[in-house]
Amino acid sequence: MNSIHLFFSIFLSFTYFLVQSAPENAIVTQLPGFTGTIPSKHYAGYVTLNENHGKKMYYYYVLSERDPSKDPVVLWLNGGPGCSSFDGFVYEHGPFNFEKTKGMPKLHLNPYAWNKVSNMIFLDSPVGVGMSYSRNRSDYVTSDTLTAFDSHKFLLEWFKLYPEYVSNPFYIAGESFAGIYIPILSHEVMKGLDNGDKPTLNFKGYIIGNGLCDEVFDGNAFITFAHGMGLISDGMFEDATKECKGKFYKPPNLKCEFQLDKVDQHLDSLNMYNILIPCFHDKKKIRHENTKLPMSFRNLGETERPLPVRTRMFGRAWPFKAPVKAGYVPSWPELLNSTQNVPCSDDSVATTWLNNEAVRKAIHADPIDKAGKWEICTSRIKYNTDTGTMLDYHKNLTARGYRALIFSGDHDLCVPYTGSEAWTRSLGYKVIDEWRSWKVDGQVAGYIQGYDKNLTFLTVKGSGHTVPEYKPKEALAFYSRWLEGKKI
Ligand SMILES: *[C@@H]1O[C@H](CO)[C@@H](O)[C@H](O)[C@H]1NC(C)=O
Ligand SMILES: *[C@@H]1O[C@H](CO)[C@@H](O)[C@H](O)[C@H]1NC(C)=O
Ligand SMILES: *[C@@H]1O[C@H](CO)[C@@H](O)[C@H](O)[C@H]1NC(C)=O
Ligand SMILES: *[C@@H]1O[C@H](CO)[C@@H](O)[C@H](O)[C@H]1NC(C)=O
Repeated sequence: MNSIHLFFSIFLSFTYFLVQSAPENAIVTQLPGFTGTIPSKHYAGYVTLNENHGKKMYYYYVLSERDPSKDPVVLWLNGGPGCSSFDGFVYEHGPFNFEKTKGMPKLHLNPYAWNKVSNMIFLDSPVGVGMSYSRNRSDYVTSDTLTAFDSHKFLLEWFKLYPEYVSNPFYIAGESFAGIYIPILSHEVMKGLDNGDKPTLNFKGYIIGNGLCDEVFDGNAFITFAHGMGLISDGMFEDATKECKGKFYKPPNLKCEFQLDKVDQHLDSLNMYNILIPCFHDKKKIRHENTKLPMSFRNLGETERPLPVRTRMFGRAWPFKAPVKAGYVPSWPELLNSTQNVPCSDDSVATTWLNNEAVRKAIHADPIDKAGKWEICTSRIKYNTDTGTMLDYHKNLTARGYRALIFSGDHDLCVPYTGSEAWTRSLGYKVIDEWRSWKVDGQVAGYIQGYDKNLTFLTVKGSGHTVPEYKPKEALAFYSRWLEGKKI
């Protein structure tokens, strides 16, 4: 009797242990290029969505360096469509800063990593992007709704693998085209909770940086931005306003188109991801830093990152005058009609590291001959926009009590802050924290407007498209204050 009892209690505690614990085979024990001690546990691997197709989504999970059992779990998504979330991992708020060398990049700890205060899941989505892939190529034909459906399925499967984190507050965050992914996925999560899907996610809200939202608001944002930033003259602004009758996003006549072409010419050679830094058109021009810029500009665009930011940016959200519209979304390689991935770009550190087979083995990504070569933004997927404006999603989510932080690097021409400021205001919620500066180390770091229903709009002064890349210290500051529900 006793021994049977003992057997059962051992058996039960053993299964209990299995159910309660993250998968041991997913632990990342060492990383090529890094010689120190990894400060918190890292896990990585695949979640299979369809066995027959070999359709698999890749994630990299970085535990908080503070209190992983209590800190929020945050899903991170880069945009594109087609861009890998290793963009965030390598260039933005990931656990390491990557130093370019002739061979294997050198990894240093990032003092402003977002996993200082949260558990971060970096997910390559949709299938076909980054390390996520399928044996059946029909899975690469996708859309807003299919992407959200798959990511939701991923989340449910993922939390089954990591059940000890299911009660932590859960947030969904990302950038750029993820401004489309996030509200739709959040909506799927909300519907799943209503339907009693298991496991029950402790979903609290979402965070979007320089994100797309709406054809009209985002399409109209360029002209006011260009004018306010001194990129076009008062006269040009007045002419364009007069001819276009408030429809910059969809020119109503030829005179309007002519004015917009004029504006285009003046914006053409800027780095659209950060108007303060140079555009690097080809490899010969790639040099570090902003050394040709006047000192005042250099200070504004400067970053606290110990290593130089990319000599350009991508993130591909959107080329000028091509705001998100229903229908097929061309990839960067298609738009440029070249094999060059993204304009003004040098992604060599990430590309070198992630296409090294020893690295892929260490991070539990399949080798190149199975998963394909890693690209920062791929044209492997065929993406269709099938939802339209995100405004209704934001309304429904905030009405249900989910918190929303919408932030903008205020020198990004790709998805200008003027659009995000206008659409957040258009929801018509009561202003409860009127436009004011927010600070880091006693200095103004940007501006904020807080609305009823836990909606916050915030700018980051002097930052380009990928805020944690350009302003890592400020980014970690507003991120952690917001997550903790403190005044920013
Ligand atoms: C790929 O998937 C599609 C849709 O499920 C199916 O019709 C097709 O037969 C599959 N192709 C292969 C090679 O398995
Ligand atoms: C460039 O355009 C040509 C002609 O339309 C096309 O055949 C080719 O595939 C394009 N190249 C890329 C990389 O998109
Ligand atoms: C938002 O909620 C309303 C009312 O329940 C519903 O009719 C509408 O379809 C929802 N919007 C979206 C985008 O699902
Ligand atoms: C705002 O968020 C907090 C924390 O989740 C919650 O307690 C509160 O009810 C929310 N307020 C509104 C108006 O939804």
